[in-house]
Amino acid sequence: MMKKITAFQNKIVIVTGGAAGIGRAVCEAFAQCGAHVYAADINEQGLQALTSQSFPGSITTIKMDVSQAVDFQTAIDQVVAEHGALDILVNNAGIAVAGDFHDTTMAELEKIININLWSVIHGTKLAYSQMIKQGRGHIANVSSSGGLMPVPKQTMYSAIKHAVTGFSHSLREEAALRGVEVSAIFPGMVQSDLWDNAINVKDYNMKKVMQGTGLKPISAQEAAQYILEGIAGNKRSIIFPRINRIIVRLYQLFPNIMAKVVVAPLAKASK
Ligand SMILES: NC(=O)c1ccc[n+]([C@@H]2O[C@H](COP(=O)([O-])OP(=O)(O)OC[C@H]3O[C@@H](n4cnc5c(N)ncnc54)[C@H](O)[C@@H]3O)[C@@H](O)[C@H]2O)c1
Repeated sequence: MMKKITAFQNKIVIVTGGAAGIGRAVCEAFAQCGAHVYAADINEQGLQALTSQSFPGSITTIKMDVSQAVDFQTAIDQVVAEHGALDILVNNAGIAVAGDFHDTTMAELEKIININLWSVIHGTKLAYSQMIKQGRGHIANVSSSGGLMPVPKQTMYSAIKHAVTGFSHSLREEAALRGVEVSAIFPGMVQSDLWDNAINVKDYNMKKVMQGTGLKPISAQEAAQYILEGIAGNKRSIIFPRINRIIVRLYQLFPNIMAKVVVAPLAKASK
């Protein structure tokens, strides 16, 4: 059962990738807390399913492509026109491209850069300007445990998530001087459509490889709880679940041993 966080009452929130998985659960959790949430996604059908529920707050849907800066501008303009402010942006939308880097096409590399990295830069750039004007706001960018440690066969995904980590942690210190908060979010394994929708290069099977790690994914609702608590506490890094915090910590302390024992086997796995 989701714990309600009263601080989010009447807050104006945009969540990208809100139609499914973690993003959808985050939209619902904010709306349960009384926030007015804009679920932004490219998947119109998924967005429609969100509007059938009622909440203490509200959920409005916006169809947009996060890789397009112009879509972000339109969305933020709409939100500010309707509410006069944007309190929280969660840059969550993302895709996975998995398989041998050597076999990955340039088009696939560009696609994941556009959706997973440019989205975060566009969204942050535009929301940040609005939040500076307000003198307040919070930007939360979804990275991954793969943004703190390497993930062979998800090389580009991991590289981009490391970029999101560095971007968010660097901006956090600049933004604090302007009254704006920035967090980076590091989920471990979460039940969602990410693995099913992954672009698998050649005969790679991301879902099977991830299942083969033996780690049990948490639900998207649990992930949302961690995310909302982290944002409410203005945490620099929101890392979950506990097993993921331990793995990441061990990698930071013993990178060579962890590379050999945990990371290298992923380079060999394919199905
Ligand atoms: N599920 C996990 O185990 C896990 C682990 C670590 C990090 N993450 C990250 O969490 C975030 C959410 O992923 P998820 O697991 O909920 O996946 P998901 O596939 O269930 O949801 C992703 C959402 O993003 C949307 N999206 C994709 N491209 C878009 C675009 N161009 N414009 C707008 N929306 C777009 C999709 O339509 C979908 O609704 C991603 O950034 C992912 O990298 C997930």
